[in-house]
Formats: sequence, C-alpha cells, structure tokens
Amino acid sequence: MSIENIKTVAVVGAGTMGPGMAATFARYGFDTYLSDINDEQIEKAKGTIDFVFKTLAGGGFLTEAEADAAKGRITLTTNQAEAVGNADFVVETVPERLEIKKAVFTDLVKQAKPGTILASNTSGIPITTLQEGLDEPNRIVGMHWSNPPHLIPVIEVIKGAQTDDATVATIKEIIAKIGMVAGTVDKDVPGFVENRILYAIMREALHLLDEGVASAQDIDTITKWGIGYKLAVIGPLELLDVAGLDIYTAVASYLNKDLSNNTGISSTVTEKVEEGKLGLKTQGGLFEYTPEQIGELAQKRGRLLVATRKALMS
Ligand SMILES: NC(=O)c1ccc[n+]([C@@H]2O[C@H](COP(=O)([O-])OP(=O)(O)OC[C@H]3O[C@@H](n4cnc5c(N)ncnc54)[C@H](O)[C@@H]3O)[C@@H](O)[C@H]2O)c1
Repeated sequence: MSIENIKTVAVVGAGTMGPGMAATFARYGFDTYLSDINDEQIEKAKGTIDFVFKTLAGGGFLTEAEADAAKGRITLTTNQAEAVGNADFVVETVPERLEIKKAVFTDLVKQAKPGTILASNTSGIPITTLQEGLDEPNRIVGMHWSNPPHLIPVIEVIKGAQTDDATVATIKEIIAKIGMVAGTVDKDVPGFVENRILYAIMREALHLLDEGVASAQDIDTITKWGIGYKLAVIGPLELLDVAGLDIYTAVASYLNKDLSNNTGISSTVTEKVEEGKLGLKTQGGLFEYTPEQIGELAQKRGRLLVATRKALMS
C-alpha cells in the first residue's frame, strides 16, 4: 500500500501508548480508529486524548480549533474487526506479552484488507517472531514509538526477516507525514537500538545506587543535567569524535572493566518490587510521591518536553 492510498489508520490497544499515537495520526489528518478489548480503557482513553491535545495546543503546536478537528477524526471502539477492516494502515500497541501479540497479529492478518501494512509497537519482541506462521509476513514491521508518543520525535522502524523493502519505505513516509523522525534498525535484535542504550544507562544507574555511590536524586541530576542535556544535540557516537578516540581509548581501557555487567536485576529494584513499590502507579518506587505531585509532575514534564522539542526543531 503506497502512502497516497493511506487515509485511515487503526491503532489497536488504548492503554498508555495508544491514545497519544491515535492523537498524532489524527493531528496530521488521518481518520483514526482507536480500539481496545476493554470498555474501561476506551473511557480512560477519552480523557487521555483530551490531555494530549491540551498539551499540544498549550505548547503552540496547533490551535484549539485544529485540536477539536483532530479529535473529531478519532473513533474509539471495542469493535476491532470493523476498525482494522476499514483501515489502510494498522499499528498494534497491546501489552508486551508474546502470546497476546501473536494472537492479535493472527486476528489482524484476517481482519485487515490484503496488502495493508501491520505494524507493532513492541519494545523488543523480535518482529521475525511475530511474522512466523502468518500470511503476508512481508507487510509486518516494527514501529516502536517512545513515551509520551505525541511528543518524543523518534520512531524506530524494525525490519523483520520477512519484511519487504516497500513496507519499510512506506512506513518511513508515514512517520515523516506525522512529523516524526524515523530511525531504521537493520537487524532484528532484542530491545532494538533505543531500549538497548536506555537499559545500559539504567543498569549502570542502578548499579551506582546499589553500591551507594550517590543518591537516586543525585544520579538523576548528574545524568539529566550532564549527558542527558548533551545527548539531545550530540549523539553518543558523534560525542566520541568530539572527545577524541584516543581519549576514549585511554578512559575506556580502565573504566570499561569497572562498569556493571550484571545480567540479573538490581537488588534495590528487587526489594522495591517485593514491597509492592512499583513507581508512579503505587505512589512510590525509587522515589516517593503524593497523588498531587504525580499530577504536577505529568504537567511539568509535558511542558518541558514541549519546550525541548521546540528548541530542537528550531
Ligand atoms: N509504556 C511505554 O512507555 C511504552 C513505550 C514504548 C513502547 N511500548 C510498547 O507499547 C505496547 C503497549 O504498551 P502500553 O504501555 O501502552 O500497554 P498498556 O498495558 O498500558 O495498554 C495495552 C492496552 O491493550 C489492551 N489490550 C490487551 N489485550 C488486547 C487485545 N487482545 N486486543 C486489543 N487490545 C488489547 C489493554 O486493554 C490495554 O488498554 C507494548 O508493546 C509496549 O512494549 C510501551
């Protein structure tokens, strides 16, 4: 299916990611279905979509009238067969469990029109595994968004063993059309590129916390105001050229040996999980939160991400 023929999109799964993804397609003129198996999630998604458009309009990305028009292009439904059957492009964003994804793809292949691209927002399940045993595997591709999906520009495109080049080319055109930036992953490795780099950072941050090298607050302050600030402008490989490969060699020759190579889970995280402290959703994880702080943090982080995106686009 070529980009000119794609007018209607179906987003399957209306949890954390689906509403922001649907809002993004609708913002750029696509008639958009957002489907879920759960009525409650559909109800919740309405509020999330309002919040997304409030953030985008508040950030000056679109007017109130444009936000209203975009909202009007979204149809929320529990009728997946109808949503997918009417769509010219489908992306699933259901829970990250292989058996759920496999079952959903089995349905999508039957429900979608022949030739419709079927994308997965999986964070790390190999696309090659999702393609196995299905008809037309050439049209199945990874489309990995970052959270919050309406603000973080990059979307990884992952080519499974059977994905064809035309599918990759079209999905990259779709990503450009919705104002996002595509990064292509040529080898279908677990975690793709973004999560491998993120998990390497989180493993070292947790190792430093486990070892009492610095507090959680200070580890985050140093990361956010140092490398985090820089990495939005200069990528890690560009940074190597800036620093000099000779300097990197000198530092890495003693430092690499000392970095965490833990293949298990940090003891701090294991203890917190045992205590039922899972993060924002339980009002406490590595940090403690009141319900008011959770609301304020979401608003503040949204405002800062909007400002950062605008600065980076200028
Ligand atoms: N949350 C993140 O930060 C994030 C970031 C990037 C990618 N992802 C990926 O996006 C996907 C979804 O993650 P999430 O955090 O939005 O999950 P979630 O659990 O918040 O939402 C999943 C939604 O899918 C629905 N669902 C479950 N089974 C379904 C089915 N068979 N058919 C239709 N809908 C079904 C659930 O009711 C729920 O509303 C996962 O693959 C995840 O790895 C998540």
